[in-house]
Order: sequence, then structure tokens, then C-alpha cells
Amino acid sequence: MSFFDTDFHCHVLPGIDDGAANLEVSLGLIHMQAEQGVKTVVATPHYRQHQQSVARFLQNRQAAYEQVMAHAFPGMPRILLAAEIALERNLSELADIERLGCAEMNTLLIELPLFESYRKWMVEEIEEISYRTGMQIVIAHLDRYVDMYSTKDYSDILGISGAIFQFNLSAFSDRKGKKLVKQLVKDEYPIIFGTDCHNLEHRKSNFDVLAKQMKKYEPSITVERLFNGID
Ligand SMILES: [Fe+2]
Repeated sequence: MSFFDTDFHCHVLPGIDDGAANLEVSLGLIHMQAEQGVKTVVATPHYRQHQQSVARFLQNRQAAYEQVMAHAFPGMPRILLAAEIALERNLSELADIERLGCAEMNTLLIELPLFESYRKWMVEEIEEISYRTGMQIVIAHLDRYVDMYSTKDYSDILGISGAIFQFNLSAFSDRKGKKLVKQLVKDEYPIIFGTDCHNLEHRKSNFDVLAKQMKKYEPSITVERLFNGID
């Protein structure tokens, strides 16, 4: 497992969120990832605290995973189970939040609110989750907020202690997104990439972009640590 063959964020499990609608789409996406060089898929279906319990989510996720595994094919990437957790007020009080993380990497992928301006409570909540769980926090698709957040907002988020920053590979086709990636690479922030693929139409897997864009990129020590003890 390495930085260059891992899709850290995607919605390939069938029928569990707004990602792969059924098994056919799910297998289509996983085939696409395999063709693009993905060896490890971190499956991150959406989790929203106000919509369901952790126990129910884990049950649904397991059933979706088993459906896929019943159709495993030669050369299929390994699938690690995790979640994309929507940040809400009081998320840090959610019992069992650590069970939503990727057990192999000890990470929790957290998505900032999509239609809200940045507010101080967001970072405070994340810091609290990090402190409480002792897990490595990954901030999902940092590129998605370039039209909403100011430089000051971004610097608050980049200041979250010990966090890793995930970018969608689509950031490379957006001027501001690409600029942000380049800046973080230059400043040696720990960054990782994901396709955030959802379907076979407008949100397909685009993992091939990574090899084209990041030839000169050396993953940071923090990121390499994610793979400690994982084959
Ligand atoms: Fe996502």
C-alpha cells in the first residue's frame, strides 16, 4: 500500500449513500479504479449524525461491502472500510465516532459543511474529536471551499494540529484548486488524494490524474506513517 496507489476518498459501495446506486455501478467504478492503478480503495460512504446511528450505518456498510466481495475479481483493489463524516455541531459528543474511521490507518475523514461559511466552532469541534479519539483527522476535499473561504479561514483549518488534508483529483482541473494544492505541497503540508467518485457519469473515477500531476511529489513523513504496518 502506498500514497501513489491508494484512493483515499470514494463512494463505491452500492446503495448506501448518493454514491454507487447499485452493484453494477459499484463494480464498474472499482474496475475503473483498478485500470487506473488503484491497489487500495478506502471506501468512505457519507455518515450524517442527525440521520442515522453509528450502529445502523456500520450494519449497512458491512452489507454493501459483502455484496461487492461476493463479486470479487482478479486484480481487484483491496477495500478498506471508513466513512466521510459530515461535521455538525456536537459531533465530538457522538459515541463510537472512532468506529467510523479507517481502522488500518487510524484516520477519521471529516467533511466541513458545504453550504455554510466558515465558523470558528468547526475547527474547535474537530480539535475536540482529535483529542477525544486520538485518531488522525483527515479534512475531506479541501479544494471544495476555494470560492467560499478566505485565506484566514483556510489558515485556521490548516492549523488544526496533526491534521492531514485530502484533495479531490478534480482540483487539478480548477485554477484555484490547483493553486491551493501547489501551495500546500510547497509548504510541505501532509496531503493525500481521492477521486471522490460517485457514479459512472459525471463523477467517475479519475485516479489517472494523480500519476500525471504528481510526478515530483514526495509524500510527507506524516502521510507515510499512515501506511506503517499495512502491506
Ligand atoms: Fe465524498
